[in-house]
Amino acid sequence: MVFGGRSTEHEISVISACQAMAAIDRDKYDVVPVYLSKQGRWFTGDGLADVTAYRNINALLDRSTEVYMRPVYGDYNLYRANAGGLFGAKGPVAKLDLIIPVLHGSNGEDGIFEGVLETIGIPYAGCSTLASANGMDKIIMKMILAADGIPVVPYVWFTDKQWFAGREALAAKVENTLGYPVIVKPANLGSSVGIGRADNRGQLEERVADARRYSSRIIVERLVEQLQEINCSVLGDCDEYRTSVLEEPIKSGEILSYTDKYMGGSKDSRGMHAAAKRIPAELPADVTAEIGRLAGETFRVLGCHGVSRVDMMIDRADGSIYVNEINTIPGSLSFYLWEATGISFAELMDQLVRLALKRKREQASKTVSYDSNIFALGGGVKGAKGCKGAKTAR
Ligand SMILES: Nc1ncnc2c1ncn2[C@@H]1O[C@H](COP(=O)(O)OP(=O)(O)O)[C@@H](O)[C@H]1O
Ligand SMILES: [Mg+2]
Repeated sequence: MVFGGRSTEHEISVISACQAMAAIDRDKYDVVPVYLSKQGRWFTGDGLADVTAYRNINALLDRSTEVYMRPVYGDYNLYRANAGGLFGAKGPVAKLDLIIPVLHGSNGEDGIFEGVLETIGIPYAGCSTLASANGMDKIIMKMILAADGIPVVPYVWFTDKQWFAGREALAAKVENTLGYPVIVKPANLGSSVGIGRADNRGQLEERVADARRYSSRIIVERLVEQLQEINCSVLGDCDEYRTSVLEEPIKSGEILSYTDKYMGGSKDSRGMHAAAKRIPAELPADVTAEIGRLAGETFRVLGCHGVSRVDMMIDRADGSIYVNEINTIPGSLSFYLWEATGISFAELMDQLVRLALKRKREQASKTVSYDSNIFALGGGVKGAKGCKGAKTAR
């Protein structure tokens, strides 16, 4: 299991992964924790599966082994980073069969890490590079969903450079198409980082200045004032999936904050702080069914895989339902929603493994290269000028 990473949600990832490592059936699976430090270094060791050990991170890493994988197709080994020296231990630390990424936010949930895994060719749980990347960028995600008829709140987007060059026109566009109040978000972060409400031009400018600190892509949405938030987890792949019971997260302020999400509420049975939530959400049967349908459609349209959580918004003023965002690697892997649906955490982990292996089998059945060698045909190859003397690689 791989977790941590260069992300503002580093700690949340560690907590989610430790929960999952505690839940997974150890009679069936050998679990190798792989922790990515905030600097991006990789470590393994049994101590990394214990969330309390992270209080003293330096001591923990001293007890752990620094490792790496090679971006070489078919090489599933975890190599020791410091294998040199006369007395240094030699050989790979472990050979992995499959990877379960439990990374949140940038450099993990956005498809970047999945790209490395695709390069290596190792089966892995969760969304592909494409689905992860599309799900991570709030602008691209909304464009795709809207194009497929899935309701999203009206929005305007721009880059920080566009804002710098044409602030007046963009602010006017926000005012004309959305009107106040609006909510300003960096396009590709999570956990409410850099998000804020604006009620007038001055606040809009302040909020955009804040969001620009985190991302060069900014989205401004109409603010749903009478908001009810409902989340639904989806498990499977885009051909066959099921949806969980719904939850209503409870917030302390207007915007569900980082603190609400991760520090609020009480400690759960695993000793983790659990955010306050109502499960199942109390909603009329038709609204529950419609939210489940939209969550499943969102998962399907974005080409998701494994377990994702779709966060929805109900506008109580008129009953409209909007898809707000998808979390392709949800915090806690949404295990509490699956438990409430009748699937234990251990079973959920089993399903993720099964789905990862299924995808690998399906990929293996697709043609990835033609058995023809155009170089052997002789004569000139178009566009190959300047290749003379190039070194060949095997
Ligand atoms: N259009 C909106 N209207 C009202 N509140 C919103 C809107 N969009 C987001 N929020 C509030 O802000 C929170 C964080 O926004 P979200 O888009 O989910 O970002 P994150 O990826 O940080 O979770 C939501 O949980 C909700 O409380
Ligand atoms: Mg959210």
